[in-house]
Amino acid sequence: MPRRWTAADIPDQRGKTAVVTGANSGLGLRTAEALAAKGAHVLLACRNEIKAAAALETVAAAATGPKPEVLPLDLADLTAIRRAGDHVDVSVGQVDVLVNNAGVMALPRHSRTADGFDAQFGTNHLGHFAFTAAVLPALLRAPTPRVVTVSSVAAWGGVINWLDPNWRQVYLRWLAYSQSKLANLLFTAELNRRARQAGTELVAVAAHPGLSATHLYDLGGERGALATLAGLQQKALVALAQPDRMGALPQLYAATMPDVPGNTYLGPGFEFAGYPRRTLRNPLAYSRTQARALWRLSERLTGVRYEWPQRSSIG
Ligand SMILES: NC(=O)c1ccc[n+]([C@@H]2O[C@H](COP(=O)([O-])OP(=O)(O)OC[C@H]3O[C@@H](n4cnc5c(N)ncnc54)[C@H](OP(=O)(O)O)[C@@H]3O)[C@@H](O)[C@H]2O)c1
Repeated sequence: MPRRWTAADIPDQRGKTAVVTGANSGLGLRTAEALAAKGAHVLLACRNEIKAAAALETVAAAATGPKPEVLPLDLADLTAIRRAGDHVDVSVGQVDVLVNNAGVMALPRHSRTADGFDAQFGTNHLGHFAFTAAVLPALLRAPTPRVVTVSSVAAWGGVINWLDPNWRQVYLRWLAYSQSKLANLLFTAELNRRARQAGTELVAVAAHPGLSATHLYDLGGERGALATLAGLQQKALVALAQPDRMGALPQLYAATMPDVPGNTYLGPGFEFAGYPRRTLRNPLAYSRTQARALWRLSERLTGVRYEWPQRSSIG
């Protein structure tokens, strides 16, 4: 890998279509901008129309190829996910790169998605599990499709709470976040394995941005002294963080470079900051048993099944 790889080193993306979830803000916006600057047709998959329109202007200003578009997508709603997938299938046709980037972190109050899942597990993992399945037909029309899922250093502290993955008994906000980010890694490993087993060219990889200054740290929701503490914590984290453009580099490398085999995990060189390099992951993320169990749990909870060309051989 080059030592100081930047967005300027992204290969020509003309003729490629990329879908980026959560593209109206932070790392997603920078990813969409950089891909469009290299000529890709970029779809900004966003839940908020107004924020999406503003982001579209930024990405359009950087684009050197086809005009970027907004794809309405709420990952906290399985019906909206199906609708977005249908739109991609019918109107877009082929997707070369899907960047599963959107996320929420450590929500102070336990909230649920439209389908009753914990908001972090539901958005960060189950939403992307269902959305990737919805986009799969379009991905499989591309010659070398790639799915990049954005995890976090927080995955090191993650375990899957098999007894209560939606945190119905006790809600532990940071553990819920870590669980969802470990789930991103297990999902990547299992998706890559299943794609290979089905004889497809699809490659699934993961990336993390270290500590990057984005809206992820606008935690809010606290009251009184806790709100002051949360505000200070947010200011301290953002002050220490690298710029969002830098944080987006590992996922951009994962999305565009040829030397990225399936199930690679990329992060910043100094883990919290720096240029992209291959990185280590929580040992649990290597467990095939856990990856397979999470896949089955995700199928059961969402009712979503992946339609592979040779389904019968997938176990
Ligand atoms: N920043 C970091 O230091 C850091 C560290 C580790 C991992 N990450 C990961 O990086 C990814 C991007 O986060 P970021 O740092 O760029 O934060 P951000 O600026 O808060 O961006 C998050 C994006 O996700 C979108 N999103 C949230 N819920 C959604 C939903 N239900 N449906 C569709 N989109 C939704 C947000 O949309 P709205 O604007 O409408 O809320 C926003 O566009 C996340 O997966 C996060 O876990 C970030």
